[in-house]
Amino acid sequence: MKNDNFIIKEFLDNAFNLKSHLMEFFSIGASDLNEFLANAKMNLANSHPGDALSDVSEFYSEIVGDRHVADLAAWHITSKDYIADTLKLQQRFSRDLVLDFGGGIGTHALANAMSSTVEQVFFVDINATNRKFVEYRAKELGVEKKLTFCNTIKDTQISKFDTIVCLDVLEHLDDPASQIEIFNEIMNNNSIALFNWYFYKGENNEYPFHIDDEQVIEEFFTILQSKFLEVFHPILVTTRAYKKIR
Ligand SMILES: C[S@@+](CC[C@H](N)C(=O)[O-])C[C@H]1O[C@@H](n2cnc3c(N)ncnc32)[C@H](O)[C@@H]1O
Repeated sequence: MKNDNFIIKEFLDNAFNLKSHLMEFFSIGASDLNEFLANAKMNLANSHPGDALSDVSEFYSEIVGDRHVADLAAWHITSKDYIADTLKLQQRFSRDLVLDFGGGIGTHALANAMSSTVEQVFFVDINATNRKFVEYRAKELGVEKKLTFCNTIKDTQISKFDTIVCLDVLEHLDDPASQIEIFNEIMNNNSIALFNWYFYKGENNEYPFHIDDEQVIEEFFTILQSKFLEVFHPILVTTRAYKKIR
């Protein structure tokens, strides 16, 4: 196990060897990697079918393929100070059984798996490429025993989690209110959930897959404010920490 400062330093140094993991896993050379990362954001946005999409989750499970890995990798590399702050935040709260819902390229799940306060991390992501990529990364980093990979929360077969991490995912769901209700049901009185959200499609529709429907957002905040109590933390990031209202 590594200490907290060392984990942050490793992330800031090389994002947990992200570039070499990308090259090896996707069999791409160093020069192609730059192209893979440079166009990632627009490639992801352009792959969205717009109103033709009838089931929101289909975009992530069937359409994006490796484009989300590229987009998330580019973001975690270019915004490493911000991402490092979110890792510092989870270090304040993460313990025992952790659910990382919509874990993406695994930065948060891998950091939690390296932590001595965490017993097991359940990485849930609807995208099979993401799951396989993070499984590969976990083996490379020697933390595979502390990670379990699942398609859905039900597949984890865990009834209560001590920590829930759900970062930059809620705006990707058709019903974020129902999702946080599910989270509430799988928390005990001491559990902490870390949530953020960005219900906005962007200035130039760079996030066409983000939900921005007013009624959906109102329903989300109604559930959030009726079932969760915020727990203060001093880190200047958008992510908030919550416990259950008893
Ligand atoms: C913007 S990424 C965030 C990744 C990661 N949490 C981070 O902060 O870098 C959103 C992730 O949610 C996943 N996702 C979308 N819908 C999902 C669903 N219904 N169940 C599980 N994962 C989902 C996507 O596959 C993607 O990995």
